[in-house]
Amino acid sequence: MDGLHTTMTLNNGVKMPRLGLGVWKTDNHGAQESVAAAIRNHYIAIDTARQYGNEQGTGAGIKQGLQQAGLKREDIFVTTKLYNGDQGNADKVTNAFNGQLQALGLDYIDLYLMHWPVDAHFIESYHAMEQLYKAGKIRAIGVSNFDNDRMEKLLEAAEIVPAVNQMEFNPTNQERDILTFDQSHGIQLAAWSPLGGGRSLKNPVIEKLADKYHKTAAQIILRWEWQRDLIMVVKSVHEDRIISNSQIFDFELSDEDVQTINQLDEGKRGLWYSDFQWHDPNAKIANAIDHWDDTDPSKPL
Ligand SMILES: NC(=O)c1ccc[n+]([C@@H]2O[C@H](COP(=O)([O-])OP(=O)(O)OC[C@H]3O[C@@H](n4cnc5c(N)ncnc54)[C@H](OP(=O)(O)O)[C@@H]3O)[C@@H](O)[C@H]2O)c1
Repeated sequence: MDGLHTTMTLNNGVKMPRLGLGVWKTDNHGAQESVAAAIRNHYIAIDTARQYGNEQGTGAGIKQGLQQAGLKREDIFVTTKLYNGDQGNADKVTNAFNGQLQALGLDYIDLYLMHWPVDAHFIESYHAMEQLYKAGKIRAIGVSNFDNDRMEKLLEAAEIVPAVNQMEFNPTNQERDILTFDQSHGIQLAAWSPLGGGRSLKNPVIEKLADKYHKTAAQIILRWEWQRDLIMVVKSVHEDRIISNSQIFDFELSDEDVQTINQLDEGKRGLWYSDFQWHDPNAKIANAIDHWDDTDPSKPL
């Protein structure tokens, strides 16, 4: 089945919508506006993080969107993430998690992801997430930005196999090894920066396909990821783009055109451990993000 309400069944049986709205690099006001716009335009999945500094706005947008759409909390799927600086023992993680619930104005989270593997803490942090899951505060737990080495270490120690690994995935960064490894362990890959933070939209191959199918470049990329069987979270603060990014269900890319986009893979990550020392809880990562300019064409992606 196609459509914004289409779900993927995760390894614990929870159904996760396949196309959601992300709110990275959006302030509280922008998050509120875009989340409300998404929900009233039939999105049922929202992706935020403490790192983004907008959980409060996201929560307000969820409340507003649900009212406008006549929906209930359980009709939507909310993902948020454990901040690197909050990793550590069970008390630390639980306090952080409770603060996030409060900021969002929610009493449970559908998917709680460890944002990045902090090498000194990711195992104990994950155990704390397992406890929160068992306590019924979270419907599914997962990770983000785990390469295969770290995932192997986690799997050795984990009681609960992560349901999701959220990774950067777009035409020029297709994470083939991670996708294969995660699939073999029943871990669903979810794509962040599915449009390459906007930069993939200017790829001439994508532009040519957009002309061919009479679609926007964003719709071509999102449809390709859809046909690659991924979950994706795409960000826009513009209601017209939020709507058009969801209009990918009235056409299908030919197998040949899927292959053409597959061949754009250059293994070029926009962000990785070395860029922002995400694995280091003391690194000034929030600062680095604030100054990340995703319209800068010299950035690799
Ligand atoms: N787990 C992680 O470590 C991680 C890391 C990064 C991102 N994420 C999640 O993934 C989400 C998406 O990634 P992202 O925000 O990096 O990038 P993205 O969704 O690939 O691209 C967003 C950029 O593309 C623009 N855009 C969106 N739709 C467009 C359209 N139809 N036409 C033209 N431009 C369009 C947006 O601008 P406007 O807003 O101005 O429309 C924005 O600049 C994030 O918001 C976040 O929730 C997770």
